Amino acid sequence: MSDAKPPVDPDALKEYAKLVFGALGGAMTSAMIYLGDRLGLYRALAEAGEVDSAALANRTGLDERWVREWLYQQGAAGVLEHRGERFALSPEGKAVLADESHPAFGAGFFDGLPQQLAVLDRLPESFRSGVGLPYDAFGPEGARGIERGLAPWFRALLVPMVLPRVPGLVEMLEAGAAVADVGCGAGVALLTMAKAYPKSEFHGYDISRHALARAEANLADAGVANATFHAADQHPLPSEPRFHFVTTFDCLHDMTDPAGAMRAIRRAIRPDGVWLVADIKARPSYEENVEKNPMAAMMYGTSVLSCMSSALSEPGGAGLGTLGLHEDLARSMLREAGFASFEPLDLRHPVNAFYVVRP
Ligand SMILES: C[S@@+](CC[C@H](N)C(=O)[O-])C[C@H]1O[C@@H](n2cnc3c(N)ncnc32)[C@H](O)[C@@H]1O
Repeated sequence: MSDAKPPVDPDALKEYAKLVFGALGGAMTSAMIYLGDRLGLYRALAEAGEVDSAALANRTGLDERWVREWLYQQGAAGVLEHRGERFALSPEGKAVLADESHPAFGAGFFDGLPQQLAVLDRLPESFRSGVGLPYDAFGPEGARGIERGLAPWFRALLVPMVLPRVPGLVEMLEAGAAVADVGCGAGVALLTMAKAYPKSEFHGYDISRHALARAEANLADAGVANATFHAADQHPLPSEPRFHFVTTFDCLHDMTDPAGAMRAIRRAIRPDGVWLVADIKARPSYEENVEKNPMAAMMYGTSVLSCMSSALSEPGGAGLGTLGLHEDLARSMLREAGFASFEPLDLRHPVNAFYVVRP
């Protein structure tokens, strides 16, 4: 067998290098989006309309030279529109980067980027040992990043659009029900529901002390009396059937023992109760995920940095990861945990699949 190296095609080489450096460009653009959000540059652009660097620096109280270079980058990346050296956010740019009340607001996902990337120093050890890092490894800023990333959708759509799609649920919540949100994070979904249904009582469970600290702060701000947060490692779900309604939003795939969590929810839910599962819309095979999900590369990266890492943060963890809990697996795991009914709910969410599950 010849050990001659296969020839490198110069055109293919150029294309491949373009792909790799495009990825580095994406990382730089992400870093700039983080700064734009943190420094209020998008909010200022949304108010100002088309501006040059001097006007934007003036509005934000920042140094013109730094603002100018940031604008050049954002224009070159296509994040901002530009005419000569005047820059503007498109209406879509305003929704995604400036308007925190819009359900498509996404700048929050960049909030925890420095902390997410900081664990790169620790992950080589995880690759060797097999054991990952829990969400608390990202510190308080990581919990705030997840909160800001997911909150706009919950605030805008959970109560008016999602809950009414679960048969019988709204009537139950209006009459007064016991509700648990497992893996509640900073509690935005729970508190949104608690405000909407004052006759019901709401319990959030999480293992992240940083997320729970955010949840307590959000509870104080919300001023509601019908919500409580529990550190799930010390105060787990009750072992008797107490809850009429349970939710899990984007957390089963992050858990070291999702099957155990499903069994615990089965014990804690009433026989006439209902569980709304939201988890990442995944396909049963790697090939399908790559073919059908334009965000697959981003999601597998997120998985290594956080989701799979969390799901392997104890020895023997299930390690499902971001795209690991596809519908067939969810259905069979839930059947095994003792749930008889499993109905997918099509909410046309860009990322999540929803299932209505009953004992
Ligand atoms: C991606 S975050 C989602 C948080 C929240 N549901 C939201 O939508 O903002 C996943 C959460 O699951 C929590 N988690 C992981 N394992 C858990 C477990 N065994 N019990 C409770 N929460 C857990 C993490 O601490 C983290 O807050």
